[in-house]
Amino acid sequence: MYSRITGTGSYLPEKILTNLDLERIVDTSDEWIRTRTGITQRHIAAEDQVASDLALYACQNAMLAAGVTGKDIDLIIVATTTPDMIFPSTACILQNKLGIENCPAFDVQAVCSGFVYALATADMFVSSGKYRNALVVGTEIYSKILDWSDRNTCVLFGDGAGAVVLSRSDRPGILSTHLHASGSYSNILSAPGCISGGKVQGTPYISMEGNAVFKFAVKVLEEVVHEAVAENNLQSTDIDWLIPHQANIRIIQSTAKKLGLPMKKVVVAVDKHGNTSAASIPLALDIAVRDGRIQPDQLILMEGVGGGFTWGAVLLRW
Ligand code: ACO
Repeated sequence: MYSRITGTGSYLPEKILTNLDLERIVDTSDEWIRTRTGITQRHIAAEDQVASDLALYACQNAMLAAGVTGKDIDLIIVATTTPDMIFPSTACILQNKLGIENCPAFDVQAVCSGFVYALATADMFVSSGKYRNALVVGTEIYSKILDWSDRNTCVLFGDGAGAVVLSRSDRPGILSTHLHASGSYSNILSAPGCISGGKVQGTPYISMEGNAVFKFAVKVLEEVVHEAVAENNLQSTDIDWLIPHQANIRIIQSTAKKLGLPMKKVVVAVDKHGNTSAASIPLALDIAVRDGRIQPDQLILMEGVGGGFTWGAVLLRW
Protein backbone atom coordinates (compact mmCIF):
# COMPACT_ATOMS: atom_id res chain seq x y z
CA MET A 1 0.00 0.00 0.00
CA TYR A 2 1.16 3.53 -0.85
CA SER A 3 0.12 7.13 -0.36
CA ARG A 4 -0.48 9.49 -3.30
CA ILE A 5 -1.28 13.18 -3.59
CA THR A 6 -4.75 13.30 -5.15
CA GLY A 7 -5.45 17.04 -4.92
CA THR A 8 -3.62 20.31 -4.30
CA GLY A 9 -4.78 23.77 -3.26
CA SER A 10 -3.36 27.09 -2.14
CA TYR A 11 -4.28 30.53 -0.94
CA LEU A 12 -2.47 33.87 -0.99
CA PRO A 13 -3.78 36.92 0.89
CA GLU A 14 -4.99 39.78 -1.32
CA LYS A 15 -2.52 42.44 -0.19
CA ILE A 16 0.74 42.53 -2.16
CA LEU A 17 3.84 44.25 -0.78
CA THR A 18 6.40 45.01 -3.51
CA ASN A 19 10.08 45.75 -3.09
CA LEU A 20 9.29 49.35 -3.99
CA ASP A 21 6.79 49.47 -1.10
CA LEU A 22 9.57 48.17 1.18
CA GLU A 23 11.90 50.97 0.06
CA ARG A 24 9.48 53.30 1.87
CA ILE A 25 9.61 51.23 5.10
CA VAL A 26 13.32 50.37 5.57
CA ASP A 27 16.68 51.40 4.09
CA THR A 28 16.70 48.92 1.19
CA SER A 29 16.30 48.83 -2.58
CA ASP A 30 14.47 46.73 -5.13
CA GLU A 31 17.84 46.05 -6.75
CA TRP A 32 19.40 44.74 -3.47
CA ILE A 33 16.48 42.45 -2.71
CA ARG A 34 16.15 41.10 -6.26
CA THR A 35 19.84 40.39 -6.80
CA ARG A 36 20.41 38.82 -3.33
CA THR A 37 17.16 36.81 -3.10
CA GLY A 38 15.18 36.81 -6.38
CA ILE A 39 12.15 38.23 -4.54
CA THR A 40 10.10 41.01 -6.18
CA GLN A 41 6.94 40.92 -4.07
CA ARG A 42 5.19 39.03 -1.27
CA HIS A 43 1.60 38.69 -0.01
CA ILE A 44 0.63 40.01 3.42
CA ALA A 45 -2.33 38.73 5.45
CA ALA A 46 -5.01 41.12 6.70
CA GLU A 47 -4.84 42.19 10.37
CA ASP A 48 -7.72 39.91 11.31
CA GLN A 49 -6.51 36.82 9.39
CA VAL A 50 -4.92 33.92 11.23
CA ALA A 51 -3.03 30.89 9.88
CA SER A 52 -6.12 28.65 10.02
CA ASP A 53 -8.03 31.12 7.80
CA LEU A 54 -5.41 30.85 5.06
CA ALA A 55 -5.28 27.08 5.54
CA LEU A 56 -9.07 26.82 5.23
CA TYR A 57 -9.10 28.21 1.67
CA ALA A 58 -6.11 26.10 0.63
CA CYS A 59 -7.76 22.93 2.01
CA GLN A 60 -11.09 23.66 0.34
CA ASN A 61 -9.27 23.99 -3.00
CA ALA A 62 -7.29 20.79 -2.42
CA MET A 63 -10.39 18.81 -1.42
CA LEU A 64 -12.26 20.04 -4.48
CA ALA A 65 -9.34 19.00 -6.71
CA ALA A 66 -9.19 15.56 -5.05
CA GLY A 67 -12.96 15.09 -5.33
CA VAL A 68 -13.38 14.50 -1.59
CA THR A 69 -15.48 16.17 1.09
CA GLY A 70 -14.92 16.67 4.80
CA LYS A 71 -16.56 13.27 5.48
CA ASP A 72 -13.72 11.55 3.59
CA ILE A 73 -10.91 13.23 5.58
CA ASP A 74 -9.69 11.12 8.50
CA LEU A 75 -6.40 12.89 9.42
CA ILE A 76 -5.31 16.56 9.48
CA ILE A 77 -1.67 17.64 9.86
CA VAL A 78 -0.79 21.34 9.81
CA ALA A 79 2.77 22.59 9.46
CA THR A 80 3.13 26.10 10.83
CA THR A 81 5.56 28.32 12.69
CA THR A 82 2.91 30.98 13.17
CA PRO A 83 0.00 29.20 14.88
CA ASP A 84 -3.27 31.00 15.62
CA MET A 85 -2.60 30.74 19.37
CA ILE A 86 -0.58 28.78 21.95
CA PHE A 87 -3.34 26.19 22.02
CA PRO A 88 -5.51 24.61 20.73
CA SER A 89 -3.41 23.61 17.75
CA THR A 90 -4.05 25.30 14.41
CA ALA A 91 -4.98 21.84 13.09
CA CYS A 92 -7.85 21.54 15.61
CA ILE A 93 -9.05 25.08 14.81
CA LEU A 94 -8.87 24.27 11.10
CA GLN A 95 -10.76 21.00 11.60
CA ASN A 96 -13.62 22.95 13.20
CA LYS A 97 -13.63 25.56 10.41
CA LEU A 98 -13.80 22.75 7.84
CA GLY A 99 -16.76 21.24 9.71
CA ILE A 100 -14.94 17.93 10.11
CA GLU A 101 -15.79 15.86 13.18
CA ASN A 102 -13.61 13.48 15.11
CA CYS A 103 -10.45 12.80 13.15
CA PRO A 104 -6.95 13.17 14.58
CA ALA A 105 -5.58 16.67 14.02
CA PHE A 106 -2.19 18.01 15.09
CA ASP A 107 0.47 20.58 14.24
CA VAL A 108 4.05 19.94 13.15
CA GLN A 109 6.70 22.54 13.95
CA ALA A 110 9.77 22.27 11.74
CA VAL A 111 9.81 25.87 10.44
CA CYS A 112 10.60 25.99 6.69
CA SER A 113 10.91 22.16 6.53
CA GLY A 114 7.47 21.87 8.11
CA PHE A 115 5.62 20.71 5.00
CA VAL A 116 8.21 18.03 4.23
CA TYR A 117 7.98 16.83 7.85
CA ALA A 118 4.16 16.87 7.76
CA LEU A 119 3.99 15.03 4.43
CA ALA A 120 6.46 12.38 5.64
CA THR A 121 4.38 11.92 8.81
CA ALA A 122 1.12 11.64 6.88
CA ASP A 123 2.75 9.13 4.52
CA MET A 124 3.49 6.85 7.49
CA PHE A 125 -0.17 6.91 8.57
CA VAL A 126 -1.69 6.57 5.10
CA SER A 127 0.66 4.04 3.51
CA SER A 128 0.36 1.83 6.61
CA GLY A 129 -3.37 1.60 5.93
CA LYS A 130 -4.30 3.35 9.18
CA TYR A 131 -5.98 6.33 7.46
CA ARG A 132 -7.52 6.81 4.02
CA ASN A 133 -7.35 10.56 3.20
CA ALA A 134 -5.10 13.02 5.04
CA LEU A 135 -5.13 16.78 4.67
CA VAL A 136 -1.55 18.02 4.84
CA VAL A 137 -1.20 21.77 5.09
CA GLY A 138 1.52 24.40 5.31
CA THR A 139 0.23 27.79 6.46
CA GLU A 140 2.14 30.83 7.62
CA ILE A 141 1.67 34.48 8.57
CA TYR A 142 5.29 35.55 9.00
CA SER A 143 4.32 39.21 8.70
CA LYS A 144 3.25 38.94 12.37
CA ILE A 145 6.66 37.83 13.64
CA LEU A 146 8.80 40.20 11.54
CA ASP A 147 10.43 43.30 12.93
CA TRP A 148 9.43 45.74 10.19
CA SER A 149 12.38 47.99 11.08
CA ASP A 150 14.94 45.16 10.49
CA ARG A 151 15.95 45.16 6.81
CA ASN A 152 17.96 41.95 7.32
CA THR A 153 14.78 39.92 7.74
CA CYS A 154 11.62 41.85 6.80
CA VAL A 155 12.35 41.81 3.07
CA LEU A 156 12.60 38.01 2.91
CA PHE A 157 9.26 36.61 4.02
CA GLY A 158 5.61 36.50 2.95
CA ASP A 159 2.27 34.96 3.98
CA GLY A 160 0.31 32.14 2.37
CA ALA A 161 -0.95 28.57 2.59
CA GLY A 162 -0.76 25.39 0.53
CA ALA A 163 -2.45 22.03 1.06
CA VAL A 164 -2.63 18.54 -0.39
CA VAL A 165 -4.94 15.58 0.05
CA LEU A 166 -2.81 12.47 0.57
CA SER A 167 -4.79 9.33 -0.18
CA ARG A 168 -4.29 5.59 0.19
CA SER A 169 -3.38 3.98 -3.12
CA ASP A 170 -2.23 0.66 -4.53
CA ARG A 171 0.38 2.38 -6.71
CA PRO A 172 3.10 4.89 -5.70
CA GLY A 173 2.86 7.79 -4.82
CA ILE A 174 5.43 8.71 -2.33
CA LEU A 175 8.58 6.66 -2.95
CA SER A 176 10.64 7.75 0.04
CA THR A 177 10.94 10.43 2.71
CA HIS A 178 14.13 11.76 4.34
CA LEU A 179 14.08 13.84 7.53
CA HIS A 180 16.99 15.36 9.46
CA ALA A 181 17.55 17.82 12.29
CA SER A 182 20.45 19.34 14.17
CA GLY A 183 19.52 21.41 17.22
CA SER A 184 23.10 22.60 17.57
CA TYR A 185 22.43 25.16 14.81
CA SER A 186 19.36 26.64 16.52
CA ASN A 187 21.12 29.96 17.20
CA ILE A 188 21.58 31.04 13.56
CA LEU A 189 17.85 31.31 12.84
CA SER A 190 15.24 31.72 15.55
CA ALA A 191 12.34 33.69 16.99
CA PRO A 192 13.47 33.20 20.57
CA GLY A 193 10.67 34.88 22.51
CA CYS A 194 8.29 33.00 24.77
CA ILE A 195 5.34 33.82 27.00
CA SER A 196 5.92 33.71 30.75
CA GLY A 197 3.89 35.26 33.54
CA GLY A 198 1.61 36.92 31.00
CA LYS A 199 4.50 38.74 29.27
CA VAL A 200 6.66 38.11 26.22
CA GLN A 201 10.15 37.14 27.42
CA GLY A 202 12.96 37.73 24.89
CA THR A 203 12.47 38.95 21.33
CA PRO A 204 9.36 37.65 19.58
CA TYR A 205 10.80 38.57 16.17
CA ILE A 206 12.89 36.52 13.75
CA SER A 207 16.62 36.87 14.13
CA MET A 208 18.98 35.41 11.57
CA GLU A 209 22.64 35.15 10.65
CA GLY A 210 22.01 35.34 6.90
CA ASN A 211 25.38 34.11 5.66
CA ALA A 212 25.53 31.17 8.08
CA VAL A 213 21.98 30.15 7.14
CA PHE A 214 22.85 30.38 3.45
CA LYS A 215 25.93 28.16 3.77
CA PHE A 216 24.16 25.60 5.97
CA ALA A 217 21.13 25.43 3.64
CA VAL A 218 23.22 24.87 0.51
CA LYS A 219 25.27 22.10 2.19
CA VAL A 220 22.43 20.04 3.70
CA LEU A 221 20.14 20.39 0.70
CA GLU A 222 22.82 18.95 -1.56
CA GLU A 223 23.23 16.01 0.84
CA VAL A 224 19.53 15.26 1.21
CA VAL A 225 18.61 15.44 -2.49
CA HIS A 226 21.40 13.00 -3.32
CA GLU A 227 20.28 10.76 -0.44
CA ALA A 228 16.72 10.66 -1.83
CA VAL A 229 17.80 9.87 -5.38
CA ALA A 230 20.37 7.23 -4.33
CA GLU A 231 17.95 5.39 -2.03
CA ASN A 232 15.66 4.83 -5.00
CA ASN A 233 18.47 3.73 -7.35
CA LEU A 234 17.68 6.69 -9.60
CA GLN A 235 19.81 9.34 -11.26
CA SER A 236 19.21 12.99 -10.41
CA THR A 237 18.60 13.56 -14.14
CA ASP A 238 15.53 11.26 -13.86
CA ILE A 239 13.80 14.01 -11.87
CA ASP A 240 11.10 15.78 -13.89
CA TRP A 241 10.41 18.55 -11.35
CA LEU A 242 12.34 19.87 -8.38
CA ILE A 243 10.00 21.67 -5.99
CA PRO A 244 12.33 23.34 -3.50
CA HIS A 245 11.57 25.37 -0.40
CA GLN A 246 11.36 28.92 -1.75
CA ALA A 247 13.79 30.85 0.47
CA ASN A 248 16.18 32.42 -1.97
CA ILE A 249 16.73 31.96 -5.72
CA ARG A 250 20.48 31.55 -5.17
CA ILE A 251 19.95 28.61 -2.78
CA ILE A 252 17.50 27.08 -5.29
CA GLN A 253 19.93 27.53 -8.21
CA SER A 254 22.74 26.01 -6.19
CA THR A 255 20.72 22.85 -5.40
CA ALA A 256 19.59 22.50 -9.02
CA LYS A 257 23.20 22.83 -10.19
CA LYS A 258 24.43 20.20 -7.71
CA LEU A 259 21.73 17.85 -9.05
CA GLY A 260 22.67 18.64 -12.66
CA LEU A 261 19.13 19.89 -13.31
CA PRO A 262 18.43 22.84 -15.63
CA MET A 263 16.33 25.63 -14.06
CA LYS A 264 13.50 24.84 -16.50
CA LYS A 265 12.92 21.70 -14.38
CA VAL A 266 12.64 23.71 -11.16
CA VAL A 267 9.37 25.23 -9.93
CA VAL A 268 10.14 28.78 -8.78
CA ALA A 269 7.65 30.93 -6.87
CA VAL A 270 10.00 32.85 -4.57
CA ASP A 271 9.88 35.87 -6.91
CA LYS A 272 6.15 36.39 -6.31
CA HIS A 273 5.70 34.88 -2.81
CA GLY A 274 8.93 35.56 -0.91
CA ASN A 275 9.75 32.93 1.69
CA THR A 276 6.44 31.55 3.02
CA SER A 277 8.23 28.98 5.21
CA ALA A 278 6.10 25.81 5.66
CA ALA A 279 3.69 27.00 2.97
CA SER A 280 6.25 27.51 0.23
CA ILE A 281 6.49 23.96 -1.16
CA PRO A 282 2.73 23.21 -1.36
CA LEU A 283 2.15 26.69 -2.82
CA ALA A 284 4.72 26.07 -5.56
CA LEU A 285 3.36 22.55 -6.13
CA ASP A 286 -0.21 23.81 -6.55
CA ILE A 287 0.88 26.40 -9.11
CA ALA A 288 2.74 23.82 -11.21
CA VAL A 289 -0.13 21.33 -11.00
CA ARG A 290 -2.73 23.90 -12.02
CA ASP A 291 -0.72 25.37 -14.90
CA GLY A 292 -0.22 21.85 -16.30
CA ARG A 293 3.54 21.54 -15.83
CA ILE A 294 3.18 18.52 -13.57
CA GLN A 295 1.84 15.50 -15.45
CA PRO A 296 0.96 11.90 -14.46
CA ASP A 297 3.88 9.53 -13.79
CA GLN A 298 6.44 12.33 -13.53
CA LEU A 299 9.12 12.11 -10.84
CA ILE A 300 8.95 14.96 -8.31
CA LEU A 301 11.52 15.85 -5.67
CA MET A 302 10.53 18.22 -2.87
CA GLU A 303 13.17 19.53 -0.48
CA GLY A 304 13.23 21.96 2.41
CA VAL A 305 15.46 23.40 5.11
CA GLY A 306 14.59 25.64 8.02
CA GLY A 307 15.14 26.74 11.57
CA GLY A 308 15.97 24.10 14.13
CA PHE A 309 17.88 23.34 12.02
CA THR A 310 15.66 20.89 10.18
CA TRP A 311 15.89 19.62 6.62
CA GLY A 312 14.41 16.90 4.47
CA ALA A 313 13.14 15.65 1.13
CA VAL A 314 10.24 13.70 -0.33
CA LEU A 315 10.56 11.83 -3.63
CA LEU A 316 7.32 10.89 -5.34
CA ARG A 317 5.79 9.69 -8.57
CA TRP A 318 2.87 11.93 -9.63
N1 ACO B 1 18.71 46.04 1.90
C1 ACO B 1 19.93 46.59 1.74
N2 ACO B 1 21.02 46.16 2.42
C2 ACO B 1 20.85 45.13 3.26
C3 ACO B 1 19.60 44.52 3.45
C4 ACO B 1 18.51 45.01 2.74
N3 ACO B 1 17.28 44.48 2.85
N4 ACO B 1 19.75 43.53 4.35
C5 ACO B 1 21.04 43.51 4.71
N5 ACO B 1 21.70 44.48 4.07
C6 ACO B 1 23.10 44.83 4.17
C7 ACO B 1 23.70 44.38 5.49
O1 ACO B 1 23.49 45.36 6.47
C8 ACO B 1 25.16 44.25 5.12
O2 ACO B 1 25.71 45.54 5.10
P1 ACO B 1 27.23 45.77 5.66
O3 ACO B 1 28.09 44.95 4.76
O4 ACO B 1 27.41 47.25 5.50
O5 ACO B 1 27.21 45.30 7.07
C9 ACO B 1 25.09 43.75 3.70
O6 ACO B 1 23.81 44.10 3.17
C10 ACO B 1 25.23 42.25 3.59
O7 ACO B 1 25.48 42.03 2.28
P2 ACO B 1 25.89 40.60 1.76
O8 ACO B 1 26.78 39.91 2.74
O9 ACO B 1 26.40 40.76 0.38
O10 ACO B 1 24.51 39.89 1.72
P3 ACO B 1 24.32 38.42 1.26
O11 ACO B 1 24.74 38.28 -0.13
O12 ACO B 1 24.84 37.47 2.28
O13 ACO B 1 22.75 38.32 1.28
C11 ACO B 1 20.98 37.36 2.52
C12 ACO B 1 22.07 38.41 2.49
C13 ACO B 1 20.03 37.63 1.37
C14 ACO B 1 20.24 37.44 3.83
C15 ACO B 1 21.63 35.97 2.32
O14 ACO B 1 22.65 35.77 3.27
C16 ACO B 1 20.63 34.88 2.42
O15 ACO B 1 19.79 34.72 1.58
N6 ACO B 1 20.76 34.04 3.45
C17 ACO B 1 19.80 32.98 3.64
C18 ACO B 1 18.74 33.55 4.46
C19 ACO B 1 17.42 32.91 4.24
O16 ACO B 1 17.08 32.40 3.19
N7 ACO B 1 16.67 32.97 5.29
C20 ACO B 1 15.35 32.49 5.21
C21 ACO B 1 15.05 31.65 6.36
S1 ACO B 1 15.93 30.20 6.37
C22 ACO B 1 15.31 29.26 5.23
O17 ACO B 1 14.21 29.43 4.78
C23 ACO B 1 16.21 28.25 4.76
